[in-house]
Amino acid sequence: MTRRQLHLNAFLMNTGHHEASWRLPESDPYAHVDLAHYVRLARIAERGTFDSLFLADGPQLWNNLAQRPAGALEPITLLTALATATEHIGLIATASTSYNSPYNLARKFATLDHLSGGRAGWNIVTTAGAEAARNFGLDAEPAHAERYARAAEFLDVALKLWDSWEDDAIVADKAAGVWGDDAKIHPPRHRGRYFSVEGALNVPRTPQGYPLLVQAGSSEDGKRFAARYAEAVFTAQQTIEDARAFYADLKSRTVAAGRDAGHIKVLPGIVPVIGSTEAEALENERLLEDHIVHAHGVDRLERLLQLDPGTLELDGPLPADLPPESAVEGAKSRYTLVVELARRDRLTVRQLIGRLGGGRGHLTFAGTPEQVADTIELWFDSGAADGFNIMPAVLPLGLEAFVDHVVPILRARGLLRTEYGGAPRTLRERYGLPRPANQHVNAPALV
Ligand SMILES: Cc1cc2nc3c(=O)[nH]c(=O)nc-3n(C[C@H](O)[C@H](O)[C@H](O)COP(=O)(O)O)c2cc1C
Repeated sequence: MTRRQLHLNAFLMNTGHHEASWRLPESDPYAHVDLAHYVRLARIAERGTFDSLFLADGPQLWNNLAQRPAGALEPITLLTALATATEHIGLIATASTSYNSPYNLARKFATLDHLSGGRAGWNIVTTAGAEAARNFGLDAEPAHAERYARAAEFLDVALKLWDSWEDDAIVADKAAGVWGDDAKIHPPRHRGRYFSVEGALNVPRTPQGYPLLVQAGSSEDGKRFAARYAEAVFTAQQTIEDARAFYADLKSRTVAAGRDAGHIKVLPGIVPVIGSTEAEALENERLLEDHIVHAHGVDRLERLLQLDPGTLELDGPLPADLPPESAVEGAKSRYTLVVELARRDRLTVRQLIGRLGGGRGHLTFAGTPEQVADTIELWFDSGAADGFNIMPAVLPLGLEAFVDHVVPILRARGLLRTEYGGAPRTLRERYGLPRPANQHVNAPALV
C-alpha cells in the first residue's frame, strides 16, 4: 500500500534564511539579484522532486542595508524566468492584496500560469507595517481587520476575473471564420466596498483555471480567510503540540466553510541545519549564531513588538507588560509566537535573537539527515502537517544538503516520490488537489 505523500515546498531567500548567512565565506552577497543563483536553486529543488518553490515579498524595502542583503527582484517576473529553466516544479509568488489592484494582479498570475504550463501559485498576503502603506499614499497601515476584509473582496474579484473566460471560449473554427464564443465570456460587473471591476480579464482561462491559492497568516482573521479560500497554508509553529492544534483547527474551519478537509494542505516551516553527526550540525548552527550582529536583532525585535528604540536590554528578559495580540495591528500571529517562545523558554533578548536568527520564528532543527527526516515524519504522521516549507539556513548549501541527504531517506520511507514521472503536471495536481470548476459552468470541471 502506498503511504500518504509528503508535500515539500522550497522557501527561497537570497543567501538563506539565517540572517548571518550572507557573511559565510561561500555566500555571494549579490546573489539576491542574480538570476543564475535562482536557476541553480530551482534545479536543486527539482532534483529533490519538490512540489513547489516559493518567494516571499513586500512592497517596501525590508531591513536596514547594514543588516543583510536587502531589496529583491519582483517575484512574478523572477518566477517567469524560472518557468523557462524548469519543467516540473510549482512556482509560488507572494503578492499583497492591500497594495495591488485585482485586475492587474489577476492578469499577471494568469500569464504566469500559461507560461509555466499550469505551475503558478499565489501566496496571498495582506502586508503588515506602515512602511508599505506609506508607499501607496496612506499615512498609516490600514487596521488588521480592514486589510483582511479587503483581501476577501480582492479574492472574490480575482476569482470572477479568472472565471470570466469559460474553458471552451476559444473555438478556433478557421473554416467558419469564428475564433471564439462571446457567450462564454462573463464580465464580473463587480461593484463592491473596495473595488469596481467591469470587464472580463484580457487573458484566456489558464491551464489550472487559476493559480494555486496559498495563505500565510495565522491570526483569527487569517485562519478564517484561509478556511474560505486557501488550498495550501504556510505557517510558523514552534512545537508539535502547537502545530497539531493549528492543523486540527484549520481543517475543522475548512469543513465548517463547506469545503473538504483534504483540499487545504498545511505546511509548517522548518529550518534544517544539517551535519553528518549531531555534533557537527550543532557546530554549524553555532557558527551561524556567532555571525549574528545583535544590534540588528534588537532593532528588528523592537519593531516587531512595537517598542520604542532602546527599550530592550540584550541580557534581560522581554518586558513583562507587553500588550496583548488584540492591540497589535501588524503581524499578529508572529507577535504572539515570539512572545510565547521567549516566555516559555525563559530567554534573554540575546538568546531570543539567536533562536529567531535562522527562521524568524519558524522551527529551527539542527541534526543529522536521519534526525531531520525523523522530525518531518513524526509531524507528518501525527496530525501536525501535510508537508513542509523547507527553509534552508544557507543557500545553496542547505538546500543541496537537504536534497542529497534527507530526500533519499524520505524516499526510502515511501514518503516522497522518487521522480516526477510521466508528463508534466499542474501545481494543483502535485498537491493532490482538484482543478477548480468555473463558477459559470455547471458541468463537471475538466481534469
Ligand atoms: C512561511 C510564511 C511566509 C510569509 N511570507 C510573507 C511575505 O512574503 N510577505 C508578507 O507580507 N508576509 C508574509 N508572511 C506573513 C503573513 O502573511 C502574515 O502577515 C503574518 O503571518 C501575520 O499574519 P496574521 O496577522 O494573520 O497573524 C509569511 C508568513 C509565513 C508563515
